[in-house]
Amino acid sequence: MSTETSTPANTDRVFIFDTTLRDGEQSPGATMTLEEKLQVAEALDEMGVDIIEAGFPIASNGDFEAVTAVAKQVKNAVVAGLARAIPADIARAGEAVRHARRGRIHTFVSTSPIHLAHQMKKTEEQVLEIISTTVAQARNLIDNVEWSAMDATRTPLDFLCRCVELAIRGGATTINLPDTVGYAVPEEHELMFRSVIERVPGADAVIFSAHCHNDLGLAVANSLAAVRGGARQIECTINGLGERAGNAALEEIVMVLKTRGDAMPYHSSIDSTHLSRASRIVSAAANFPVQYNKAIVGKNAFAHESGIHQDGMLKNAQTYEIMTPASVGIKKTTLVMGKHSGRAAFKDKLLELGYDLGDNAFQEAFVRFKDLADRKKHIYDADLIALVDDEVGSVGDRVRLVEMEVVSKIGGTHRCDLTLSIDGQNVTAGYDGTGSVDAIFNAIKTAIGQQPHLVLYAVDGVTGGTDAQASANVRLEMNGRIVSGNAAEPDTLVASARAYLNAYNRLLIDRGAAAQGAMAG
Ligand code: KIV
Ligand code: ZN
Repeated sequence: MSTETSTPANTDRVFIFDTTLRDGEQSPGATMTLEEKLQVAEALDEMGVDIIEAGFPIASNGDFEAVTAVAKQVKNAVVAGLARAIPADIARAGEAVRHARRGRIHTFVSTSPIHLAHQMKKTEEQVLEIISTTVAQARNLIDNVEWSAMDATRTPLDFLCRCVELAIRGGATTINLPDTVGYAVPEEHELMFRSVIERVPGADAVIFSAHCHNDLGLAVANSLAAVRGGARQIECTINGLGERAGNAALEEIVMVLKTRGDAMPYHSSIDSTHLSRASRIVSAAANFPVQYNKAIVGKNAFAHESGIHQDGMLKNAQTYEIMTPASVGIKKTTLVMGKHSGRAAFKDKLLELGYDLGDNAFQEAFVRFKDLADRKKHIYDADLIALVDDEVGSVGDRVRLVEMEVVSKIGGTHRCDLTLSIDGQNVTAGYDGTGSVDAIFNAIKTAIGQQPHLVLYAVDGVTGGTDAQASANVRLEMNGRIVSGNAAEPDTLVASARAYLNAYNRLLIDRGAAAQGAMAG
């Protein structure tokens, strides 16, 4: 029997802190509406995430409202709100998370020499003073306080230890040492955690947390190394969403712990059969496609193409499969219904796919399903998922496509004439473009009287076959804001027009005044 006293670092439970709604949403173009954030939060809560970081309440009124709404909705997880080491930030975060059954204030300050000299223009002594006062302020508001040393991995160890010691003395219950710029390599990351935990008085009474960015493609490896070094919380996002190369991917961490318990003897509380659905929900909400070969949740993650693999798989799936598709919630895509299917069958199918729509959304989805069934012979699960995600993503759109005619002639003109409904008023416009898509996008710009800059345009088939629905993705930039839009339709040109409008509608969402300089890593 072990005589060791139990401390967070010597248990095998790893807490999963999801920051899809905060660090993930900071990814350019990944802005989500309030409804989408609530949908994501619900999926995270249902799958067993321990802590949901719902946003950065001081960043804008929209963020404050979103954190408040998530705090009110979430049933099980702790709900965290981010705050800089500034009294007004901390008060605002406290106000937003006080509605949660269990709330957390997550406050951070930079600790690396380069951040201190160039961004904060503060001395080490000033930073130490800031840590003491701001952590104590947060702790006076709530008993669950996380403190982060921004750019910890480029901070000299001695100074990092002094900072951590003060944060613990101030009342922090979780200490996060982020690899803000994705600079660490696994061995040194493990050593940093081990050293801080060994050296700082009181470290055995708090939970240490890893928060890794993926600039060198090492975010998951570094997070796991941190656990070996004593961390017991990992901060991550669904699909690895996040600024630049993103954050550590939640689904990868969960499946490493589940699949390689022999090498990584730790466990999380996540029900892995929810991973595939959560990935789809986040991808649709943030309008961020998942790369085909993305581990665990990519379209190809369980596809075996080569003859030798297929042969082995037919004989025994374990020859080439280390996890089953079912363990991450992938069901065989099945032929669903045709145009004769009724409401009850449609509802059952949606429930099986994980969608429980309210009455209005269900009616609209059913009408669109019937319309699709008239035009497309075989409707698969993937078609329904695209249809429903599309429906949910366009709720509240101010600008909608009413009619569109496109004429395209090789060597001749490419013309689009369309009618949009803008806040209920019909507006028509026409444009001769260098191609059909150019004509459509310019006709839309003429009708809306705005010139958003097109950052990205991509089209993909939802399923195989020439009658497959096209899924179009459009990213627009206007006045420094980048947003993405998505739409699925049997007609590629209509999908493109609707994706453009979906993105434009997101530009119209007033997120409220942003606090100056309120950005986090
Ligand atoms: O990357 C980072 O340092 C952050 C902090 C705000 C935790 O996101
Ligand atoms: Zn970050």
